[in-house]
Amino acid sequence: MRIYRFDEIDSTNRFLREKDDILEKDLAIAKVQNAGRGRRGNKWVSTEGAALFSFALKHDFEISEDEYMKLPLLVGYSLLYSLKKIENLDYKFKWTNDLYLEEKKISGILVEKIKDHYIIGIGLNVNNLNLEEAKDRGMSLREKTGKEYNLEEVIMTIVSDFFENFKEFKNGSWKEILEKINKVNYLYGRRIDIVTFDKEESGIAGDILEDGTLEVFVGNEIKRYNIGSIHIAKK
Ligand code: BTN
Repeated sequence: MRIYRFDEIDSTNRFLREKDDILEKDLAIAKVQNAGRGRRGNKWVSTEGAALFSFALKHDFEISEDEYMKLPLLVGYSLLYSLKKIENLDYKFKWTNDLYLEEKKISGILVEKIKDHYIIGIGLNVNNLNLEEAKDRGMSLREKTGKEYNLEEVIMTIVSDFFENFKEFKNGSWKEILEKINKVNYLYGRRIDIVTFDKEESGIAGDILEDGTLEVFVGNEIKRYNIGSIHIAKK
């Protein structure tokens, strides 16, 4: 494993994406990111004390494209699995791959594909207390427990657990993983808005299904969503 550590960088995902000699398990860690990227072009607030890192997973051609659609969920599941070992709290999994603690977001995941590698970027609020503009929506481990954590240890646990869980996934354990995800499904039973490229609909979220899509009850219909941005409707 090659580890690249930065006191400050624009984005660890960008660093790995543009690395031309990339190898599986290359890991980039930053203390601060000045242009941290989230999904759908959002900015990711990346202050000191958060675990900000990205690592590479080589595309395995024995695995089908359909199976790879589940990768973001698997990363979220694996992160939850690691967090439970670090601090056994009541985390929730928000489809497709955010983790929540007490109604506030504790981590975000950005999976990108570049040539033969997936770049898995994780931002996890660990020791940071100052969540700036995300204060009302974000939460850190330290905020919850008052403890300080060794960031590098936390990151190493998450990365090595991911490769273990990926092995399990490859060996056919998706059904068991999905069952565990559905036990902590943050959206279940909530009214949500689904914003896709051409329309917006509102419905009640159900389970995450075998293919990784989310079941939503819209009026009398049951729909499944695999694309688009999704958020909880304002009450
Ligand atoms: C999201 O919730 O929208 C995803 C946020 C992902 C943030 C992480 S921080 C480390 C890595 N580098 C980035 O620029 N983004 C990811």
